[in-house]
Amino acid sequence: MERERSFGTRCVHAGEGHNPFGAHATPIYQTSTYVFENAEQAEASFSGGPGYKYIRSPPNTPTHAAFISKITSLEDGAAGLAFSSGMAAETALVLAMLEKGDHLISSDVIYGGTYGLFSKLLPKLGVEVSFVDTTDLEKLSSSIRKNTRLVFLETPANPTLAISDIGEISRMAHEAGALLAVDNTFATPCFQRPLQLGADVVVESCTKYIGGHGDLLGGVAVGSEKAISAMRRMAVSAGGTMGTHEAWLCLRGCKTLHLRMERHAENALHLALYLEGHPAVEKVNYPGLASHPQHALAARQMSGWGGMLSFEVNGGVQAGRSLMNSLRLCSLAVSLGSVDTLVEHPASMTHAVMPKEMREQMGITDGLVRVSVGIEDKEDILDDFAQGLERIS
Ligand SMILES: Cc1ncc(COP(=O)(O)O)c(C=O)c1O
Repeated sequence: MERERSFGTRCVHAGEGHNPFGAHATPIYQTSTYVFENAEQAEASFSGGPGYKYIRSPPNTPTHAAFISKITSLEDGAAGLAFSSGMAAETALVLAMLEKGDHLISSDVIYGGTYGLFSKLLPKLGVEVSFVDTTDLEKLSSSIRKNTRLVFLETPANPTLAISDIGEISRMAHEAGALLAVDNTFATPCFQRPLQLGADVVVESCTKYIGGHGDLLGGVAVGSEKAISAMRRMAVSAGGTMGTHEAWLCLRGCKTLHLRMERHAENALHLALYLEGHPAVEKVNYPGLASHPQHALAARQMSGWGGMLSFEVNGGVQAGRSLMNSLRLCSLAVSLGSVDTLVEHPASMTHAVMPKEMREQMGITDGLVRVSVGIEDKEDILDDFAQGLERIS
């Protein structure tokens, strides 16, 4: 039997190589509709048959199909869908899996936009939502209700890097008759494969590491054929389809994902260790540090620590602001997963939508600074933080 290709080889090759005219790179099929040979073929296609119909209907275009095939292979899934953003993927997920009277359990520490979707939109549709500390299995277990249909984890979580136990929680969700969805944006399939650990669906913002260069908006959902079939109709109806050029950029981004992620992680560990030893720094959140409360769990379920960290400086919000204002190489910006280092202030930026008491309870303090560590030379990143911290010490 042929050995399954390893991850880096799949990053480069999966989904590629079936192009007309012998084209080496997958072309951008910039078309919104398709011409049928005859009425019978058109009818067969619209009655669930194979083939391309219209750009909003999966598999969208051959460019999308190549990208979906690649990301599905990387996530070890059976099927996938490409969306216009990570939020569009999450919206299609919850609209497809939940209906009036159902209950959703979500990690309490999640991206602010996801919190907004779950806390504002779903209750309007008659869906009950509980935000739970999913690092605590007892709390999770006691939150499960008869009508719980979906558990949603973000791990590592944005921005505290809290880690939830995917394998154990998938068993708990399945025992209760619920599905498990995991937002894999921070780890990417390079460092974490939630489907292998028992999750039913993985969602991911491609705007981050998959695209990898801070120049596109996109999202994906990957899972079992059954789970993705349940989402397919919603994807068509909700209409948040990935653009063709974005699909091509994501396809290209995946080809270097393994190399970029290794470097992001190497630089992040270097910076985390430096910050942890700095007298002006109160606390560092990074799964690769022995001080991280779920360090051992992260070591079991992830194959790398990732490129994201957050930290608190002594002096709270004012000191954090001064630090962010004094960085020269690193940019002050939301989003993450780009080749360059980005810093942001969750309490006033990505997580401003959450009530302050809730933020503080979860460790998203006013003094917390989040860093998406880039792939520059690590000495330069470190120098920039060193000069910034010197100003506030
Ligand atoms: C963990 C996480 N999930 C989902 C999203 C939403 O992705 P997008 O901005 O592509 O809609 C984000 C955005 O920052 C995120 O950080």
